[in-house]
Amino acid sequence: MISTTHFQAGALRGRIRVPGDKSISHRALILGAKSPKPIEIRNLNPGRDVQATRLALQALGAAIDTDGDTARVSGGALHDPEQPIDCMNSGSTARMLMGVCAGANLQARFTGDASLRRRPMEPVAAQLRALGAHIETSNGTMPLAISGTNQPQTRRFILITPSAQIKSALLFAGVFGNVPVTTMADKGSRDHTERLLDFFGADISFDRSTVELRTMPEHFRDVDVAGDFSAAAFFIVAATIARGSALTIENVGVNPSRTGLIDALQQMGANIRVENTHERCGEPIADISIESAKLRGISVSPDVALRAIDEIPVLAVAAAFAQGETRITGVRELRAKESDRVAAIERLLSATGISVEALPNGIAIHGGDPRATGAMIETHGDHRTAMAAAALAAGAGALGIDDEESIGVSFPGFIATLRKAQE
Ligand code: S3P
Repeated sequence: MISTTHFQAGALRGRIRVPGDKSISHRALILGAKSPKPIEIRNLNPGRDVQATRLALQALGAAIDTDGDTARVSGGALHDPEQPIDCMNSGSTARMLMGVCAGANLQARFTGDASLRRRPMEPVAAQLRALGAHIETSNGTMPLAISGTNQPQTRRFILITPSAQIKSALLFAGVFGNVPVTTMADKGSRDHTERLLDFFGADISFDRSTVELRTMPEHFRDVDVAGDFSAAAFFIVAATIARGSALTIENVGVNPSRTGLIDALQQMGANIRVENTHERCGEPIADISIESAKLRGISVSPDVALRAIDEIPVLAVAAAFAQGETRITGVRELRAKESDRVAAIERLLSATGISVEALPNGIAIHGGDPRATGAMIETHGDHRTAMAAAALAAGAGALGIDDEESIGVSFPGFIATLRKAQE
């Protein structure tokens, strides 16, 4: 069922929490499927994307029981799935599990929803073929068929694109095939796979460019998943632009490969404090406090933009309130996310009278005084467009979205959390 919902202007106040990190949840489940004894993963992300990974791993033979946001996982010898793996809306599920199947010498078919079937699978397929897997895509997309290998040929990979999903697919191929793997030429994409492998006792070294996985993880243990920075992002921006806000978001993952949004917003003049930073299960966690602030336009560097790759729609919302132009470049892949996010930003901001210019590798926003009077935003089923619309409404006035259910991909409790903060 598809239903509409409406968001209102209003300050955000008090203390909130966001669900567990989606990226870390996928990875913890996948590596749990390698653990000979059950491990507990707590604060697992409750959205449909992570559910897609759980169901797929169960179809491959992993034992996974869930109780609320806790999962008990163990694995061992995986087997070919009986049915095609349905990755639903989740690019991470597709690309990372292709790596698992490639390394574990499994045969599987992969498919997904209409959005996922439009997204590029050839870059990850090309790198896994170099390992020795056979992969047939449908014109570079899903549905696809994969036959893994038990004799990996290449173990050193130059990443075709700086993608954490592709890097992780190659590392998982190594882990599930028990072979060392090196990846090179990354540009600082998120490093959760590397951190979790280290936490599980693998001999691994990594920096922003190169990962060397030398020995396999052997000390599997329970994982507490950090709050999802990408979920917190909508509240960080909403509290910045909605006058009179004073909000604290507790227990949020602040891995520097994810927090480009904070860097950009602080440069724009935002009032954000990151406090009580400590490490849990190999990841930095903190409380983030935000008070509303006046913003100015900036040029967002490609490095910052890559570390905010899922936050560009909501960064564009902040830019709509900034005096002057904000330019975001180095993000060509924005058009190939869950929807075309350049088009999504144009639809979103034009509903409030703000003009946007599509650049060959990014977007420019001419900020000012966005005003909304109840326009209905088409989300194209994209959860991040839906939540960015809610953040925009907090500062600009009433807006509707045509597809509330899309939010459940990553943050089923989003609307309730927002209403609580705006009470
Ligand atoms: C993700 C990596 C990013 C990001 C996606 C999640 C991950 O994609 O956009 O939402 O968990 O590794 P790319 O690897 O395609 O950049």
